[in-house]
Amino acid sequence: MPLLYNENNLPEINTLRAKNYDNVNPDEVEEIKRIGILTSGGDAPGMNAAIRSVVRAGRNAGLEVYGVQRGYHGLWKGEIKELTGRDVSETLQRGGTFLMTARSKTFQEDQGVLKGARMMETYGLDALVVIGGDGSFKGARALARLGMNVIGIPGTIDNDIASTEYTIGYDTSMNTAMNCIDKLRDTASSHERCSVIEVMGRRAGYIALNVGIATGAEAILIPEVPYDFNRDVLRIILDGRNRGKKHYIVIVAEGAGSAADIAKQIEDVTEIESRPTILGHLQRGGSPTVRDRTTASLMGIHAIDCLLGKRFNRLIIEKDGRIGDVDIEEGLEMTKTIPELEIANAKRLC
Ligand code: F6P
Repeated sequence: MPLLYNENNLPEINTLRAKNYDNVNPDEVEEIKRIGILTSGGDAPGMNAAIRSVVRAGRNAGLEVYGVQRGYHGLWKGEIKELTGRDVSETLQRGGTFLMTARSKTFQEDQGVLKGARMMETYGLDALVVIGGDGSFKGARALARLGMNVIGIPGTIDNDIASTEYTIGYDTSMNTAMNCIDKLRDTASSHERCSVIEVMGRRAGYIALNVGIATGAEAILIPEVPYDFNRDVLRIILDGRNRGKKHYIVIVAEGAGSAADIAKQIEDVTEIESRPTILGHLQRGGSPTVRDRTTASLMGIHAIDCLLGKRFNRLIIEKDGRIGDVDIEEGLEMTKTIPELEIANAKRLC
């Protein structure tokens, strides 16, 4: 497709297309012919599998699919090119996102969104598929409110999107963290130390909680649950020592505290040598697991089905093990938190 972008000659927005498609006769809605796809926010293993799925399932249904580079930033700048089935071969097993991603501040402002919508019109994109987290979906919702058609696919390692029980990348990141912590346990055991490991999760403790269970951590600290250092960390370590334990694993989600501070506090009080490790962006890389590849692939197909069925402005979700979709406005109003039972269960194993 030729580059049509000209800063001074962007088309007016075709505003006020039906924003809520619930009461619209699908026969009166124009067919979707050309769609865009982008990845936005933090990358997550499996994003490539989702892009591949949208491209292949879309093209097999007769759609043209355009890849937008660097998230909303690329939409804004016109970094858009057609993707063929060949362009997505050899991507299924690769971590990261070959479309690249960005956290776009510009797109958080009205003018940025307006220009994004104009770019969709300029490139003739009848719909935009956004793979990312809640922040990215808010950008998509802003486009939808200007009359654009959007679909959101949940992709973040944090699993913190309220509308869905599962987000692409979560399983791979947990397996990566678990493998690292198993190695840290080896050396903690050899030196009879306490290993304090900080895992990702600024606002959510899903990774910390489940990896903590999987690695047999003595203490798991997550942002959702306020903790008492003496009761929830020190007491457990000291009780363990009294029972003859020689090494300890403490897991803290980044939003709940700092591994360095916690390790120092433990060592100061107990005189047990303690070492902090921040797993950091390691958790965002790597080849996606079976779970992430299949979920991403099925969510991509479902996104295409929504578009072909003229069901726009939907977030693709997983609920009770099945792929489905919810309205983007409703999805972004939802909240979710870790069930108390899961937290209580984790404590029963310490
Ligand atoms: O992808 C989500 C997340 O991994 C958070 O857990 C973390 O706080 C954040 O992204 C950090 O991302 P970045 O360093 O890319 O801003």
